[in-house]
Amino acid sequence: MSKNNLEESSKGLLSNYQLGRFKLSHRIVLAPMTRCRALDHLPQAAHIEFYSQRATKGGFLITEGVGIADNAFGFPHCPGIYTEEQVEAWKPVSKAVHDKGGVIFCQLWHVGRASHTCYQADEMAPVSATGRKISDHWTILMPDASKATFSWPRVLNAKEIELIIEQFRRSARNAIEAGFDGVEIHGAHGYLVDQFLKDSINDRTDEYGGPVHNRCRFLFRIIAAITEEIGGDRVGVRISPLINHLDATDSDPLSLALYIIQQLNNLPAPGLCYLHLTCPRFTAGGDVEDKEEYANYHSCIRKAFRGTLISSGGYSRDSGMAAIVNGEADLVSYGRLFLSNPDLPLRFATAGLHFIPTTLLWGILIIHFSINRIKTYNGSSSYLPKFICPTVVRVWLGK
Ligand SMILES: Cc1cc2nc3c(=O)[nH]c(=O)nc-3n(C[C@H](O)[C@H](O)[C@H](O)COP(=O)(O)O)c2cc1C
Repeated sequence: MSKNNLEESSKGLLSNYQLGRFKLSHRIVLAPMTRCRALDHLPQAAHIEFYSQRATKGGFLITEGVGIADNAFGFPHCPGIYTEEQVEAWKPVSKAVHDKGGVIFCQLWHVGRASHTCYQADEMAPVSATGRKISDHWTILMPDASKATFSWPRVLNAKEIELIIEQFRRSARNAIEAGFDGVEIHGAHGYLVDQFLKDSINDRTDEYGGPVHNRCRFLFRIIAAITEEIGGDRVGVRISPLINHLDATDSDPLSLALYIIQQLNNLPAPGLCYLHLTCPRFTAGGDVEDKEEYANYHSCIRKAFRGTLISSGGYSRDSGMAAIVNGEADLVSYGRLFLSNPDLPLRFATAGLHFIPTTLLWGILIIHFSINRIKTYNGSSSYLPKFICPTVVRVWLGK
C-alpha cells in the first residue's frame, strides 16, 4: 500500500484509494453476481439499469460472471463476451457506468464441470480438469427453474486447454473493446479454474495436475495470455482457497493460496490490478460464523500479498470499516447488500452521520432513520428517491 493510501485508509470504506491507474473515491466494491437476466447470452436493458444504478463517481463495480465461450455456461440466461454481437450489447452498459464516473471490470467465467448437458451444444458433456462429476449433494438450476444434479464431465486434453486459454485472451480483448476498464478472472467457487487448483478435484497426471505448481499452471497461463493482451494493470484475479462450494476443497488451502500469491508477487511490473479473495464465512447455505483459524489464514495472505487485496463475504458496514482500518483489506466487495441497496455507498455514508439525530428537529430525525436503514438481502431492489439524500453526501459521491 502506498503512503497516501495508508493515510487514507484510516477513514475506512469512505476513503479514496488509488487502484493502479484508477482513482477510487470510496472502497465499497460491487461484487460479481450472476443475475440470469440475459437473453441468448446478450446483455439487456436490465443490465444497463442494474449497473448504472450501482455506479458512483469513483466507485468500482465488477460484473456478474460472463461466459468466455458457448460451452462455458452452467446457469440460465447468463451473458457472454465471445461474439461481436455480445461486445456491441455490452457497450451501453459500460458507457452508463462511465457516464456516472464509475469504473467497471468484466468477470470472465468458465464453469467447467459445474454444468449440465442442457447448457452445452448438442447436449455434449461439460469439460473439466477431471472426469469425476460434482456430488449429488449439490444441484444445478435448470432453464425451467427446476433443480437437477450436475452432469458427468469430460476430461480436457492439452489441445483443448490451449483453446480455452485463447478464449480467455479473446474475451479480455473483447471486454476492452466493449468499453470495460479491465477484467477479473474467475478462479473461485468451484468453477473451471478452481477445478484445476484444488487437489480434491484435479486428478490429472500431466503438467496441469499433481504438485501445487502444476495445478496452478492453468491459472497462470490464463493470466499470462490476458496480461499480454490488455496489460496486467487491467487484470484482477478472484480465488477462494477455503471455499468448498461445489466440492472444491483442497487438503492444504493455505499453501495453495501462498503459492498463488508468491507467483502474483513475482509478476513483472506493473503486476496485476488486484487479488479478490472470498472469505469462507460466505457459503451456499448462507453465512457461517467466523473461525479463528480463518482469521489467521487471512492475515497470512494479507501479509504475503504485496498488491491490492479485495476481500468479500459476509461483510456488514461495520466489519467492512474495520477491515479497511485494520489493514485486513484495501477494498471490500459487497454482494447481497448491494443487491438490496443499489445506493449502498450512500447508505453507508449516511449511516455514519450519528450526530444528526441528536442535533436536528424531529422531521429531520425521521429522514435520518429512513436513509440510515441498510436493507437486508431480500431480493428487493427498491430504494429511496435521491431527493432525500443530504446534499453534502451527494456532492461527496459526485451524484
Ligand atoms: C445471487 C448471487 C450471485 C453470485 N454470482 C457470482 C458470480 O457470478 N461470480 C462470483 O465470483 N461470485 C458470485 N457470487 C458471490 C459474490 O460475489 C459474493 O462474494 C458473495 O455474495 C459474498 O458477499 P456478500 O456476503 O457481501 O453477499 C454471487 C453471490 C450471489 C448472492
